[in-house]
Amino acid sequence: EKGTYDHYMLKEINDQPAAMRKIIQEYQDEDENLKIDPEIIDQLKDSDRLYVIAAGTSYHAGLIGKEFFEKWAGVPTEVHVASEFVYNTPLLSEKPLFIFISQSGETADSRAVLVEIKKLGHKSLTVTNVPGSTLSREADQTLTLHAGPEIAVASTKAYTAQIAVLSILAQVAARELGKGTEINLMQELAKVTTAITAIIDDAPMIEQIVNEYLETTRNAFFIGRTMDYYVGLEGALKLKEISYIQAEGFAGGELKHGTIALIEENTPVFTLATQDKVNLNIRGNAQEVEARGAKVCMVSMEGLDQEGDTYVIPRVHEMLTPLVSVVVYQFIAYYAALHRGNDVDKPRNLAKSVTVE
Ligand code: M6R
Repeated sequence: EKGTYDHYMLKEINDQPAAMRKIIQEYQDEDENLKIDPEIIDQLKDSDRLYVIAAGTSYHAGLIGKEFFEKWAGVPTEVHVASEFVYNTPLLSEKPLFIFISQSGETADSRAVLVEIKKLGHKSLTVTNVPGSTLSREADQTLTLHAGPEIAVASTKAYTAQIAVLSILAQVAARELGKGTEINLMQELAKVTTAITAIIDDAPMIEQIVNEYLETTRNAFFIGRTMDYYVGLEGALKLKEISYIQAEGFAGGELKHGTIALIEENTPVFTLATQDKVNLNIRGNAQEVEARGAKVCMVSMEGLDQEGDTYVIPRVHEMLTPLVSVVVYQFIAYYAALHRGNDVDKPRNLAKSVTVE
């Protein structure tokens, strides 16, 4: 039930701190150590490469997951769009493990891949919000998101839950593989929860950003580098699917290779700066578009922020910033759709789960 909220999407954005707390609780033992079914970890340890298969927002969560698996667990990881993988299967490693990420667990494109890889005898794990769903029943193992039902077509809390669960899986794998890359993840996720709450409290401020940047525009760009690039892809998808504003996400450094030609006077460019290593680079990219008339909305992280930034998110662990920065983009999409009088929860042409290939 959406209760006092005007829309399911707004409720689900607001559900995120509770979902994070639930995940923290579900994935730790009595001694507050991270806990994942040992059979899942054995499968992961036994594989030489992970193939993450998903669609839409779940694909974007997979891109963040790849960073965790490679940087923490040291396991090479590929992320694939399900509908492409079926018809354009890459050369597989000797011992692949397939990870299906799906809020609904019913996405037909992903199921088509699962059917094929099972014929080849490969192992599979489904990360889903719906245990008992088709992808969950048909894969060898399941990890549950515990985000609670997601009703709005635009996925919000499932994305953050997917990233949180993938971070836990990667940290447990790192621990079991003795990688020496462990962080106090539960403590860091608790900080994330507080940071998300702070952004929720700032919703009226974010609505002002929409007034300033998106009221009349027909298009918008989202740029970032490394993880912020992936969050930009998700920000653009969210905005286009419910506000119908033409929106695209790009790697900041790639703009000058073509896309910058689209920048006109007042084109909104949402820019994320949460990663120390590329902070100066992305700010350089923002200046390049600003010099051509773009209106840059700079969303940075405390500690990396500079005077004049539009919105500063609280400081969290650098690998976990997507969990926090995306919430700003969720609100931006929500208010943009609301101000345009669109049906926020049921955008045109879209279904909650895409059960046809
Ligand atoms: O249920 P799934 O996670 O498999 O769904 C995948 C996509 O259809 C879904 O994420 C879609 O992109 C959302 N509407 C995005 O908000």
